[in-house]
Amino acid sequence: MSIKYYENERIFKLDTSNSTYVLAVGEGGYVLGMYYGAHVDEHDLRYLYVREGHDSTVPLSASVPDWRFSPDTMQAEYPAYGSGDYRIPALKIKNADGNTVTDLRYLRHSIYAGKPALRGMPSTKAGDGDADTLELVCRDITGAEITLYYTAYKNHPIITRRARVTNTSCEAMYLERVYSASVDFTRDEYRLLHMWGCWGREKHVERRALGHGTTSISSTRGASGHYHNPFAALLSHDCTEETGEAYGFSLVYSGNFSIDVEVDAFGLTRIMCGVDPESFEWKLEAGESFDTPEAVLVYSDCGEGGMSRALHRFWREHLLEKKWLEAPRPIVVNNWEATYFDFDADKIVSIAKEAAELGLDMLVLDDGWFGVRNSDRCSLGDWVCNEEKLPGGIGKLAERVNALGIKLGLWFEPEMASRDSDLYRAHPDWCIQTKGRDMSIARHQYVLDLSRADVRDYIFDAMSKILSNAHVEYVKWDFNRNLTEYSSELLPKDRQGEVFHRYVLGLYELLDRITSAFPDVMMEGCASGGGRYDPAMLYYFPQYWTSDDTDPVERLKIQYGTSIAYPACTMSCHVSASPNHQTGRETMLSTRGAVAAAGVFGYELDPGKMTEREREEIKAQIADYRAVRHIVMEGDLYRLLLPGTETHGGEVCAWEYVMPDRSEALFTYVCVRTMIAPVSFVRLRGLDADRVYTDVKTGRRYRGGTLMNAGLNLTGSRRDGECVVMHLKAE
Ligand code: GLA
Repeated sequence: MSIKYYENERIFKLDTSNSTYVLAVGEGGYVLGMYYGAHVDEHDLRYLYVREGHDSTVPLSASVPDWRFSPDTMQAEYPAYGSGDYRIPALKIKNADGNTVTDLRYLRHSIYAGKPALRGMPSTKAGDGDADTLELVCRDITGAEITLYYTAYKNHPIITRRARVTNTSCEAMYLERVYSASVDFTRDEYRLLHMWGCWGREKHVERRALGHGTTSISSTRGASGHYHNPFAALLSHDCTEETGEAYGFSLVYSGNFSIDVEVDAFGLTRIMCGVDPESFEWKLEAGESFDTPEAVLVYSDCGEGGMSRALHRFWREHLLEKKWLEAPRPIVVNNWEATYFDFDADKIVSIAKEAAELGLDMLVLDDGWFGVRNSDRCSLGDWVCNEEKLPGGIGKLAERVNALGIKLGLWFEPEMASRDSDLYRAHPDWCIQTKGRDMSIARHQYVLDLSRADVRDYIFDAMSKILSNAHVEYVKWDFNRNLTEYSSELLPKDRQGEVFHRYVLGLYELLDRITSAFPDVMMEGCASGGGRYDPAMLYYFPQYWTSDDTDPVERLKIQYGTSIAYPACTMSCHVSASPNHQTGRETMLSTRGAVAAAGVFGYELDPGKMTEREREEIKAQIADYRAVRHIVMEGDLYRLLLPGTETHGGEVCAWEYVMPDRSEALFTYVCVRTMIAPVSFVRLRGLDADRVYTDVKTGRRYRGGTLMNAGLNLTGSRRDGECVVMHLKAE
């Protein structure tokens, strides 16, 4: 068992592949977080119970005679509001009397093999041999029972957590905040790492010192969003890419979230993550339960790189759909940047023909194939093929594309209705709005109220009609605006605080239905690029459009940030035209290829506009990618030189994927800004020191240890944006 209970000490010890997590039932039944970090032994950890040294102003507990113990300084396992712990609470409930005082004490627990399913939301999976679970139930005198779920994985440095609130009283109560997990660390030296951004500039990495007081990253947009990602890590003061401690917290959720950290006056750092409380209130009737989304906690003693590799492996083995991991992903050409809305069937077929000649697998027809959508001003929701553009419909187009030997993929934006659409004219009430108020518009469209079953049925039927009648093997599921004036017609007054969460639950239900009805259709997620790139989406979408910004220089930072929490096999990356449509930057085709090959590779351009030389280069790129794709998909990522690394006045970036058995590696180096007389030796990582690796292109042989210690010799003048790619194979 990876979870043990020491009855005399009332201590629970959870062990993962590299970490130990300890909690205890203290005096008075308080549930205390004791320790989280590298493995510790099985001796008594009770001495960690009480933190002395606080001042006389903190309130003492009426049920614990020890004057040294205070709820305000305790290491609370799941802090509740209103009973002497003034720091950020994980739980706040307005009870039937109208007050918000809650005080949780231990009630019972159970430990068992495996992991229980989470109803209504995506979560990670575990077989009985993979992990054990602790269910710990606490109770408040109002009858609110909180079940804390902990699952410790044996072969991963991962603990998953979530909470369930059950109302065992006879009256309704209102949940004002219910976080998925909270951890109190007994040190205060951490820095916070998180990813921030906006459209076209997703997931830039930021690290900041944590001062006293609270720090939050969150979303209140109705989606996890571009601006912050539902991931954050506490880094030890000495943490680097490959050394030091990193504790990652990832929320498996696609809606409003919050990750909050508080450093108190007594050297304690509290971090918690969950559904954003600002935009949430949930009425819990007598006898009802509420489940939070799942939080995934990862511990690394090998720096940020170790944390990312552990998460990547974990998502691959316990979250992502196996079927899509096993089959090679199609290398697609997407027509968006090639044509935007200006296409007809012959144009699409001509791109498909070129694509087939170049060796691509699929053509993805993007926005503009339905209704009268010749711009972004209309027709979302009217999912009927525009036969003026595509005579014979999507079925006919699929036949023509398939006849060329390649597959067809199709774009949808199912959660939306354009203001100018038949759907909106027929059902204006289906869009999220608040009666009597103007509706904010974004990209000329509104968001459909997915908390409503009738709206979900409509979307399901409309998509089913297309997917059942045409040979479409891939769907790009887009989401291009956030929610405003959020209230829902069908919910009573005292349930309007539930709209955001119900929207997300509705989305999951819809995705469950679609993916079950069309199990052979692979889906790529998109939200104006990476605007809803989170683990819950990856449960349905094995890959995600990383960003609308396809400039390879910009992509270095975006893909680096994405790689902090998400594996390459989820990162959709396309080679686009030069000059780039978003930034105007001119770059070499080879570098565009090398950067896109760091993820799920494809193209976003009109092959018909390429020169003969470029077409030959593309053919070679595709063949090269096929030869290394398994390394990118299954390998461990080593970030060797982070984007923005300055060297002798130049700027470089380098990374490496290594197969888990260390038999092969793919090394990529990009000289972003050139330098004169550069000295650049890049040390590789993760190889087998004793094996000999051959550079597949040149046949040159290197010992693993030499590559890792002395490094590759990359001296020599390079042009701006030039890259070096090396596929290494062990003998
Ligand atoms: C969003 C997506 C793009 C493209 C357009 C189509 O911006 O991120 O990739 O699909 O919508 O309108």
